[in-house]
Amino acid sequence: MIARKPAGGPLTRAQLLREIGLSPQWQLREQRAVTLPTPGVPAITPAERRPEAPNAIATPAAVTELAPTAAPASARPQDIAGMSWEQLQHSVAACRACALCQQRRQAVLGVGDIAADWLFIGEGPGAEEDARGEPFVGPAGKLLDAMLAAIDLQRGEDVYIANAVKCRPPNNRTPEAAEIATCAPYLRRQIALIQPRLIVLLGRAAAHALLGELGSLASLRGKTFAYPAPQGGGSTIPVVVTYHPAYLLRTLPDKAKAWEDLCRARALMRAAKAAAAQTAGSSPA
Ligand code: URA
Repeated sequence: MIARKPAGGPLTRAQLLREIGLSPQWQLREQRAVTLPTPGVPAITPAERRPEAPNAIATPAAVTELAPTAAPASARPQDIAGMSWEQLQHSVAACRACALCQQRRQAVLGVGDIAADWLFIGEGPGAEEDARGEPFVGPAGKLLDAMLAAIDLQRGEDVYIANAVKCRPPNNRTPEAAEIATCAPYLRRQIALIQPRLIVLLGRAAAHALLGELGSLASLRGKTFAYPAPQGGGSTIPVVVTYHPAYLLRTLPDKAKAWEDLCRARALMRAAKAAAAQTAGSSPA
């Protein structure tokens, strides 16, 4: 499902930032992040883009490599790993692999451009998402859309939005570790099919789903993780962790930190694209 542009014409960036309570602080920090190298952000080595090898990130000291997770015994992850988008859609819609299926109205796979450079991953559908079949359509989704717009992105345009779990946890509770693990093969397959240049994890559940239990969200922010690229060959996709929009709605002071994270993500994306362009330019015709 592709999201629509907001009605009423585009807002200016200043209006957007004001609307989400991030002005003028956000603008100042954006300038800093854009004009100066971001501390702790690794250089991105020349790497190719689809259909070639994806981006690789260098400077191992600044990058946390993720150990490949042990393959579960069942054939289900293997099956999911070979699915097309269509098969994935059907499989998720019919999934009964955990108890979350019992109270959902529908499973919510994701929304957006399936060849997007940007992949944002949230926690799981809430009531509105469960009803509409699309991630982030409630209040947190409105803030996410504003955050995307603040870095010149728009839902559905070079952006894909997914969740750690595809079915609504009852009463919008946090998904349990076992539920996240059961749904993880779907998330991994989405990443393999999309081949994003960059992944942004929104909140702890998303971080848990992709990085494992590595600590508090505060301890994960400001680092760049390296998700093993589905094509192998040692290449990786950079991963940035930030606060979940629902948390930001409750904790206004942390919006400034989220803005720092987004600016860092944008700097990483620009570096990845520049490296890919350089590689493409230097490869023999
Ligand atoms: N929160 C999430 O993490 N995902 C959604 O889709 C909606 C709210």
